[in-house]
Amino acid sequence: MEKHNFGFDYEVYNSSSELNPGDALLLEKARQVSGIAYAPYSRFYVGAAALLENGQIITGTNQENASYPVGICAERVLLGSAATLYPDAAILSIAISYNTAKEKTNHPISPCGMCRQSLLEYETRFKKPVRIIMGGLTGKVHVVESVRLLLPFAFTSEELI
Ligand code: THU
Repeated sequence: MEKHNFGFDYEVYNSSSELNPGDALLLEKARQVSGIAYAPYSRFYVGAAALLENGQIITGTNQENASYPVGICAERVLLGSAATLYPDAAILSIAISYNTAKEKTNHPISPCGMCRQSLLEYETRFKKPVRIIMGGLTGKVHVVESVRLLLPFAFTSEELI
């Protein structure tokens, strides 16, 4: 028996003002669009913004439903829009932010498991790492260099014969 280990590095910034200007702009877009999320049931409003390799910025927000499981996360709304509007453009970076009805948010959240699987498909499809920038409306910001790092032991198309 051998023991193996999976670990990864990520960047922690004290606030968005420490980010490079491109990342700061993308996070600002994600923060802004969290304000138009449709989340009347959870009141957890998520915004995501992607920078494509063609320079375009695409956004997405969570879209809930009275039939709760029908709701879709901001990240997958974003991926669907990006893939439809610019089917040939890789995504370089995605920023994710959120707000709640109760209080202003001050720490990062990371994508749910289902979104990680969808994000990884995008990375695999375009053979280019997608950077993930995560932050609340204020506070620390986490940056991960590739979705692959967020989903160890991932199931990908390489397994399909
Ligand atoms: N949600 C997202 O949109 N993205 C995430 O990364 C985490 C969760 C949404 C799903 C649901 O509408 C609400 O947040 C509460 O789970």
